[in-house]
Amino acid sequence: MPVVEAELAVDKARQIVDSYGAERSSLIHVLQDVQSEFDYLPRESLTAVAEQLGVPLAEVLRVATFYAAFSLEPRGEHIVTVCVGTACHVRGARGVLERLQNVLSVPAGGTTEDGKFTLETVNCLGACALGPLIAVDGKYYGKMTAARVEEVLEEYGVARNRAAD
Ligand code: FES
Repeated sequence: MPVVEAELAVDKARQIVDSYGAERSSLIHVLQDVQSEFDYLPRESLTAVAEQLGVPLAEVLRVATFYAAFSLEPRGEHIVTVCVGTACHVRGARGVLERLQNVLSVPAGGTTEDGKFTLETVNCLGACALGPLIAVDGKYYGKMTAARVEEVLEEYGVARNRAAD
């Protein structure tokens, strides 16, 4: 999703806070709803939430950055998750991650300029026997190799010639 307009970010956040009766204890629920509305937490929404709940902005940011489910940046249309946990690491996860970074021209944690992909890493996807393991929008691709990266991305509309050799 692209960056949300400030006015919309503020209006929607206020509506969500109101729907919880402006209770300070509802902070996490409010943030979850804002995240599900915009697919990330726009800065203007966070400021509006802090003001309306009477909670310091620093506290809102602390909660927003603590939980992995929250994102402070717009995320891509597709989320590519690379497991870099021990079981995947020893089988070559690093090479898979580097290949993804090259092909998508984005560092881990970043989103491609066209907004199509967000590349992220996690410490375990819970299926270590399949490592190295990646997931695209929650669909697992096990026994990954750097060479298979383009094959997988092709399913999501990335032309092979986009790959960096
Ligand atoms: S370490 Fe990669 S899935 Fe568990």
